[in-house]
Amino acid sequence: MAKDKDGGGGDKKLFVGLVWNCAAELKLLLTALVVLCAIATFIQFLPARSSSYSISDLRFCLTSFPTPPPPPPSYLPSPSLLLLSTPPPTQQRDDEVLPNGVIKRTFHPYGAAAYNFIQMGAYRGGLNTFAIIGLSSKPLHYFASPTYRCEWRSHRPNTTAVTAAGNKMLTDWGYGRVYTVVVVNCTFSEPVGAQGSGGTLVLEASTGDRDRNLTDRIQALEEPPGSLDTSVYDSPPKYDFLYCGSSLYGNLSPQRMREWIAYHVRFFGPKSHFVIHDAGGIHPDVLEVLKPWMELGFVTLQDIREQERFDGYYHNQFLVVNDCLHRYKFMAKWIFFFDVDEFMYVPPKNTIKSVVESLSEYTQFTIEQMPMSNKICLSSDARYAYRKWGIEKLIFKDVKKGIRRDRKYAIQPRNVLANGVHMSQHIVGKTTHKTEQRIKYFHFHGTIADRSEPCRVLVNTSKTTLEDTPYVMDTTLRSIAGNVKKFEIKTIGHRLQKTRQ
Ligand SMILES: *[C@@H]1O[C@H](CO)[C@@H](O)[C@H](O)[C@H]1NC(C)=O
Ligand SMILES: *[C@@H]1O[C@H](CO)[C@@H](O)[C@H](O)[C@H]1NC(C)=O
Ligand SMILES: *[C@@H]1O[C@H](CO)[C@@H](O)[C@H](O)[C@H]1NC(C)=O
Ligand SMILES: *[C@@H]1O[C@H](CO)[C@@H](O)[C@H](O)[C@H]1NC(C)=O
Repeated sequence: MAKDKDGGGGDKKLFVGLVWNCAAELKLLLTALVVLCAIATFIQFLPARSSSYSISDLRFCLTSFPTPPPPPPSYLPSPSLLLLSTPPPTQQRDDEVLPNGVIKRTFHPYGAAAYNFIQMGAYRGGLNTFAIIGLSSKPLHYFASPTYRCEWRSHRPNTTAVTAAGNKMLTDWGYGRVYTVVVVNCTFSEPVGAQGSGGTLVLEASTGDRDRNLTDRIQALEEPPGSLDTSVYDSPPKYDFLYCGSSLYGNLSPQRMREWIAYHVRFFGPKSHFVIHDAGGIHPDVLEVLKPWMELGFVTLQDIREQERFDGYYHNQFLVVNDCLHRYKFMAKWIFFFDVDEFMYVPPKNTIKSVVESLSEYTQFTIEQMPMSNKICLSSDARYAYRKWGIEKLIFKDVKKGIRRDRKYAIQPRNVLANGVHMSQHIVGKTTHKTEQRIKYFHFHGTIADRSEPCRVLVNTSKTTLEDTPYVMDTTLRSIAGNVKKFEIKTIGHRLQKTRQ
């Protein structure tokens, strides 16, 4: 605070004054807090009616500050779950002069600088298995040995809790920042909650510190009695294709988004679904473009803006793709992972359905990229460029050789335990990369978060070189654009005709 006000300068008097002011405010705050906690403690003893307040609110007062916020379940946990997860600090020791004259120094840890676990989702993956997806302190995972354990507490009276080891998978290839993505797989030796008893899945997350092995008990999942439908685990899925998008942020172009969604609903067909994660990129004009498709049931929009509080890689994209995998694991035959500036393509006489059928022996296949220029257009298109779709006018393909380019991928989710952005390393079954002849994607890098006209370099030849990169004309998507436009009008009418870049 002092730093903000005096810009980091060293006026000592001002600084002291500020500290004094702060101290007064702090006192007030602390008093208020004590009163609040007293009220909360008192409320606790009132008879619990259909509570408008939840125990989790009270936990704020019962536990010390640095413990992570409790997860959302709206039920009242049994008293044992309310045990303080952070024990009071051990008694302070002083430095000590050893008999041999050496001064033995002591170290006094206070507080916690990163959360032990931040849960995003917890999902059942069968009668005896669960996946819990979250973030955790990256240095803790890279330089120490945190451990996980799961407990299932049945709602049936007089049954004892069963436990299972939590098998953790780190899925972000070391890209994490303060936080890294953790998928915990807990598989019990027997079915749990299968007879409709309902129950609670508790995740125990231990830091593994030698002297103060802190364990947080987290209510990861709550299953009300009778709520479990076991048929989903062996029935055919609802969708043939599901798209899991990574975090969207920035000033996205509504028109580019409009093209992308119309193109891919047509491409993947009526039994497809698109899960889009809004990390701040879905502003009102983009929402307008998605709305018609949401109304038809093709698109689910998830607001994940709160993840910004937790510093992970690229708006926590590795977190959301894992949440999406486990959330929709039993709802789709295939899940695709790629971005909204990328357009899937299969050669003529193929369909996406025939392609995945030919690859059905694989759990995972990766897809080759065709990089496209984000600014070269034909000069003959220049005059009416603003009326043309991006895939109609950006028709120059980067053909520079010898560059390793990212791939994107698709999986059969029932055989996947955790995943990444460019491929999954945690699968059961085979992966193939030999798919060039069957499926590719066109990548218009840098077009999706650009609200201005992309045609900035005009040429009148079918080959050109720009910034040492050779380009050739490729009209593959241009030749499909007309059909995509017709499909859009046929499916949602004319409501997006006035969409702007
Ligand atoms: C957890 O791992 C087991 C063993 O690899 C696997 O069979 C199970 O499907 C996994 N569970 C989830 C929810 O991914
Ligand atoms: C549960 O166990 C207690 C004592 O262990 C017993 O008194 C009670 O009747 C049992 N309840 C049921 C529903 O079996
Ligand atoms: C920390 O506590 C957990 C849970 O009680 C236990 O499984 C783990 O072995 C402990 N780790 C250490 C280093 O003591
Ligand atoms: C092609 O473009 C160049 C420069 O942009 C111009 O000088 C030339 O006249 C053009 N040729 C035709 C046929 O339009």
